[in-house]
Amino acid sequence: MSTWSPTSWRTKPITQDVTYPDAAHHDRVLRKLRTLPPLVSEQEVDSLAEQMAEVAAGRAFLLQGGDCAELFEYCSQTPIEHKLSLILIMSLILLNAAHIPIVRIMRIAGQYAKPRSKPTEIVDVADANGNMVKKEVMSYRGDNVNGYDINDRTPDPDRLTAAYFHSSTTLGYIRTLLSSGFADLHKPLEWSFSYVRNPELLKQFTDVVEHLQDRLEFMKVATGAAGGSERGGTQTVNIFTSHEALLLEYEEAFTRAEEHKPSNLTPASRPTTPGPSRSASIVRGEQSPASSGILPKKRFYNRSAHFVWIGDRTRQLDGAHIEYFRGIVNPIGVKVGPSMKPDELVRMLDILNPDRIPGKVTLISRYGAAKIDDYLPTHIDAVKATDHVVVWQCDPMHGNTKTSEADSSLKTRHFSDIMHEITRAFEIHREKGTILGGIHLELTGELNDEGYSVTECIGGSMELEDKDLNLNYRTHCDPRLNYEQSLDVAFQVSDYLSAAKKGRKPRDLFKAARK
Ligand code: PEP
Ligand code: CO
Repeated sequence: MSTWSPTSWRTKPITQDVTYPDAAHHDRVLRKLRTLPPLVSEQEVDSLAEQMAEVAAGRAFLLQGGDCAELFEYCSQTPIEHKLSLILIMSLILLNAAHIPIVRIMRIAGQYAKPRSKPTEIVDVADANGNMVKKEVMSYRGDNVNGYDINDRTPDPDRLTAAYFHSSTTLGYIRTLLSSGFADLHKPLEWSFSYVRNPELLKQFTDVVEHLQDRLEFMKVATGAAGGSERGGTQTVNIFTSHEALLLEYEEAFTRAEEHKPSNLTPASRPTTPGPSRSASIVRGEQSPASSGILPKKRFYNRSAHFVWIGDRTRQLDGAHIEYFRGIVNPIGVKVGPSMKPDELVRMLDILNPDRIPGKVTLISRYGAAKIDDYLPTHIDAVKATDHVVVWQCDPMHGNTKTSEADSSLKTRHFSDIMHEITRAFEIHREKGTILGGIHLELTGELNDEGYSVTECIGGSMELEDKDLNLNYRTHCDPRLNYEQSLDVAFQVSDYLSAAKKGRKPRDLFKAARK
């Protein structure tokens, strides 16, 4: 395999690329980005890598969620607080049932680029005489490329700089909240949970929090722990950030050679037996340490987020995205849909993880409720026949997108399909003797001015119907689970986790919501 460098992806064919009208302007922006400080530290990335190894081994559970397309305008106090509180609440529900650590990764602070199935779309616009006519415009590609407004669809390089500053501010505010006790276990009932109108859901959650508080009180008495445990042991709560690393020029600008000495590296993040392929392929610049004989091996971190993933549309084995991803230290994800061939999956793992680091690669399966039985078992068999230890994660969103029957301009997802795909993922992994390590959701805790949740997915304990979608439909891309629906998923998944532990059959908490 040829030598890797942060720029070697440029020699490979690329999909979903963006062409900027002013290339010199784009270059100036990239030069500036390369000088800006990184957003996350090497130690944080290493810590996540260690935790992902635990997830792969079934000793921790991964909860990943957030917007499909994050907008710059979400970088504001209330939306950030709502999103963070939702992930924290869900993780408490899971923790209470699973009794294993929950690794929380948010799709936030950089989820600004979107791959699209079509490069252009036809929209209705008024002509000079005020008559509505059809016009073809570039598709909305996410806030770091162009605007959602149909008059703002030309790619603008300054949006890349704006993406960096919005990511930085969002992450900074998350860090501020966490270091000021936002995740304190005495707070959950103050979090925006008060907006939930379903009394049963509220009761269930109050029980979880009281139970966790009791356990912590007990631990305090039992261990004599003082002070430090006042925040319920959650003062060390970790939130990791993630996004689809689609715009490789941006990712390259934040790909930085490691700063700390190799001896400081944790065992989980550095292979104990360095594979020959790594030492030959991941080196500073274009020079090989094997050929120089003296240069220390350099490892490269993507420091724009802790975890980055490759989308289902950009994972070609000989393509630019796989090339970029094979060289970074971060734990990485790959979306795996029905078009992935089992032998292709294995070759992909060989390329992305030549050193077989456990938990380095998360396979984010997204087949759809109707297809999971056709694809997941064969994909599991293919990986089981190798020495790769992956994290299996279920994305029950992207294979289940439908058009609303009441309004054909709206995309939606049925809660029953989402739960069906998660349920089958649990069952299939159990049958195969593998572990479902986590779930990957598109969700939001966002509320409108009257305090109502978004209405983008159908079903759940709120029993939202197709005709309700227009009430508060806000997404600029895919439909997201709202506050209540997200909690519904958390409760149902926590029931699977505790059933698995106790060897009982899981309950179907949402029979009524099933069609
Ligand atoms: C996404 O996660 O928003 C996405 C576009 O997913 P996929 O690549 O699986 O279609
Ligand atoms: Co999406």
